[in-house]
Amino acid sequence: MNAPQSGIFALGDSAHVFLELRSAAGVSPRALTGAIANLHEPRTTVGGVNLVVGFRPSLWREIAPADTPADAADFDRPLRGPDGFEMPATQADIWLWFAGASKDIIWDSARGALALLRDTAAVVRELDGWSYRHSRDLTGFEDGTENPSLMEAPEISLVPDGEPGAGASVLLFQKWRHAATWETLPLAHQEAAIGRTKADSIEFPDDRMPASAHVARSKDIVDGQERKIFRRNVPYGGVMEFGTVFIGFSAQQSRLQRMLLRMAGIEDGIRDELTRFTAPLTGAYYVVPSIPALARFSTDTSTPTAGGS
Ligand code: HEM
Repeated sequence: MNAPQSGIFALGDSAHVFLELRSAAGVSPRALTGAIANLHEPRTTVGGVNLVVGFRPSLWREIAPADTPADAADFDRPLRGPDGFEMPATQADIWLWFAGASKDIIWDSARGALALLRDTAAVVRELDGWSYRHSRDLTGFEDGTENPSLMEAPEISLVPDGEPGAGASVLLFQKWRHAATWETLPLAHQEAAIGRTKADSIEFPDDRMPASAHVARSKDIVDGQERKIFRRNVPYGGVMEFGTVFIGFSAQQSRLQRMLLRMAGIEDGIRDELTRFTAPLTGAYYVVPSIPALARFSTDTSTPTAGGS
């Protein structure tokens, strides 16, 4: 398989910076891609930074069609469900994810990247990310219980060899802001909204699983087969405004899109109960190319490219 950007699978980092950027006026997609491909992590194997980069699907397809996952497409219109619910479309051109053990090293790394991109791209959104009680979301629930293990994750999240975009992944990136009302809900309501127990993350049995529970809504089952994704969600924010940075990788965009349609109640009218207490503020898809596909655009031969070592 074409080597993927390894930061996708680099679990354990507790500090994160996410940047979404748009191309500066007059910069060609090729020049923009070249500048991104020239970014690299600090040259150290100790206390390093994981950098993962993604591109607007239509931009990447324009310059590297053979390296684009077949169904990758921009998040170019909002998804509207029952009761006025909306998942906004806020597609940008470039997505950068800096992850490390502490904020100082990723801050330096992100500032360094911005200096290199000064004439090429402008930041449209910045998000911080941090760890809350190891792997809990700020709803208090464990996030990632059903996530594939690192043994399974590559097969689930990367396009297989022989297909367009081999070694690439499709990313869904969304910022969800939690409402303070969540904290006032009785435990039983919270657990029914998720479909798992809060303390030990045990899934409700089928006969007790509400159709609107998040784990029921976010299952993508096709011909009896569950199609999985690999999630790297982290909390964001402070004590007044906070929520979830949703980071979902998949070999096919259709899995992610189906989950969104089911959560929004667009598929069958049943809306995810969780969406009544947390609101998507942004939504974008990005192609996260393989290392060789990205490296082809690098004009800097002295250093490894993003995700490489
Ligand atoms: C505020 C936003 C979200 C929060 C707080 C959240 C939280 C959770 C929690 C607590 C679980 C159960 C434990 C686990 O297996 O990880 C879960 C499961 C899951 N979530 Fe989310 N999630 C959010 C958004 C999303 C979105 C947008 C998607 C997909 C597009 C998604 C896909 C999934 C999947 C696939 C599972 C596993 C379902 C299963 O097979 O049991 N989640 N999520």
